[in-house]
Amino acid sequence: MPKLSVDGTIVSDPLRTVKYTGRPALSAGCGAEVFKLLDDGSAAPRVPVQLGKRLVDVIAILGGLEIGDWIIVSDISQYANAACDRIKQRPGEAIMAANDNGLDNGTALISLRGVQKVFLTDEVETHALSDVHIDIKQGEYVAISGPSGCGKSTLLSILGLLDTPSAGEYTLAGQRVAGLPRVECARVRNRQIGFIFQAFNLIADLSVHDNVELPLTYRDMPAGERGERVMAALERVGMSHRAKHFPAQLSGGEQQRVAVARAVAGDPAILLADEPTGNLDSRNGEAVMALLQELHCNGSTICMVTHDARYVQHADREISLFDGRVVGSGVPTPVA
Ligand SMILES: Nc1ncnc2c1ncn2[C@@H]1O[C@H](COP(=O)(O)OP(=O)(O)OP(=O)(O)O)[C@@H](O)[C@H]1O
Ligand SMILES: [Mg+2]
Repeated sequence: MPKLSVDGTIVSDPLRTVKYTGRPALSAGCGAEVFKLLDDGSAAPRVPVQLGKRLVDVIAILGGLEIGDWIIVSDISQYANAACDRIKQRPGEAIMAANDNGLDNGTALISLRGVQKVFLTDEVETHALSDVHIDIKQGEYVAISGPSGCGKSTLLSILGLLDTPSAGEYTLAGQRVAGLPRVECARVRNRQIGFIFQAFNLIADLSVHDNVELPLTYRDMPAGERGERVMAALERVGMSHRAKHFPAQLSGGEQQRVAVARAVAGDPAILLADEPTGNLDSRNGEAVMALLQELHCNGSTICMVTHDARYVQHADREISLFDGRVVGSGVPTPVA
């Protein structure tokens, strides 16, 4: 939760005007424009909107659209056959949306129960995770810390549906991941999850621009919108001037910034960031932190692995791992 302090009384506005829709196809930048269908259905020009809480598949619209408007939702396989969703109002949930940081609404977006991960190599058994129980709420910002080799990256890979637990259960947005068909896992991963890998994982043969664009192509987004999102994301990390470079032509910190741009360009509902500032100087590190904070304020759920106590402070909660086990979970301790 953003660290806010106020002098006075906090008034919770029930936001009676809040409306809901399936995740809309957002236009460039911070996603403040959606595609609204004209009454005759002939076109869907962009209209500016104020977005509220973003759940995995539902977004609150605080302004800019009316009940009954039709907009393009992003959960589509072909833009040409774009799905439309009618704006709905659910007054019963308006108060929850007023509490827009998403905390304390009682929903665990991510839930791990007794998760274990064992790697078997040449007769060596490595217990990377043992009996891990974690609940992460919708919109929460969690920092994951612990010594090298304690299982942080392994945990993030499981959360990001890139790896599966050897035992235990992972429930994402109320669905058991083990029960999801592979194609559905891929769909969730591509459309809802942004991943910043510890080793960047940029594709050597693709330019900076094309690396950032790649995850967007899985969504069949129109080329114009993809291009706008790519450049906006690169600008946010100060890398737009390197759009035509290839990863090998970049410094480690620059590659990391491109990896951050790739993860945020799709405006993910869940961002999993593995040491996103590991190679950055403090100025660029703070810029990346500001970017994560902005996603968080817009309702994204963030899990960030970091060794840096300064950056842990940005999170609502710190989960500490040791030897593959959760050994602590609580508000980050302030750095002296
Ligand atoms: N694919 C793999 N095969 C075998 N062992 C693995 C594999 N991936 C990770 N491990 C082992 O699992 C343990 C946890 O690794 P992990 O990468 O999750 O640690 P980490 O906490 O992210 O460490 P670091 O801070 O150094 O990045 C380590 O002992 C590692 O050697
Ligand atoms: Mg790691």
